[in-house]
Amino acid sequence: MAVLETIALAVWAMLPAYVPNNAAVLAGGGRPIDGGRSWGGRRLLGDGKTWRGTAAGIGAGIALAGILSAIAGEVGAVLGVSLPTFPLRAAIGLAAGAMLGDILASFLKRRTGRERGAMFPGLDQLDFVVVSLPLTALLATEWFRAVFTWDVVLVVVVLTPLLHVLTNGIAYALGLKNEPW
Ligand code: CTP
Ligand code: MG
Repeated sequence: MAVLETIALAVWAMLPAYVPNNAAVLAGGGRPIDGGRSWGGRRLLGDGKTWRGTAAGIGAGIALAGILSAIAGEVGAVLGVSLPTFPLRAAIGLAAGAMLGDILASFLKRRTGRERGAMFPGLDQLDFVVVSLPLTALLATEWFRAVFTWDVVLVVVVLTPLLHVLTNGIAYALGLKNEPW
């Protein structure tokens, strides 16, 4: 069925952008990116955005893209879907874009007076899509055009918030995250 194929393709193509946030939660800690600096009486980003978490997140996303590229043929054959491999530029765009989007979201949260960990519905669920897709389009234009057709992008925008709520709920239940968002 075409819809299921599109969903499989969308999840596959977005995995290198989904994993960085979770890896950052596991690896986070240490020096905050903003170095403790404030702007207008509020932290620039806050203690929740660290160098270690960001590096681990980008590394995990790129590593996953490499693994997916190696098994794309086999998994695609099992699912009966043609799944793309990830050129390095696409992997970097997806992984770094996800982390950048998350950092940008924290910047916006602090500017709107939200403390670390505060909820920002909508932004929390789609921040990484908003940056990772344009950055990937910029870094790997041909690949992006071939993989992220409009139907795939639509599935990503609808499915990502659901997956985000689900994975963060699990991370919260396991005690890995302080809040379920
Ligand atoms: N994390 C990190 N570096 C990042 C992103 C996340 O170290 N670039 C780690 C931090 O330990 C952070 C945790 O992952 O506390 C959860 O991430 P997130 O929910 O994005 O951060 P919050 O602590 O909720 O802070 P914010 O309100 O700024 O989103
Ligand atoms: Mg949070």
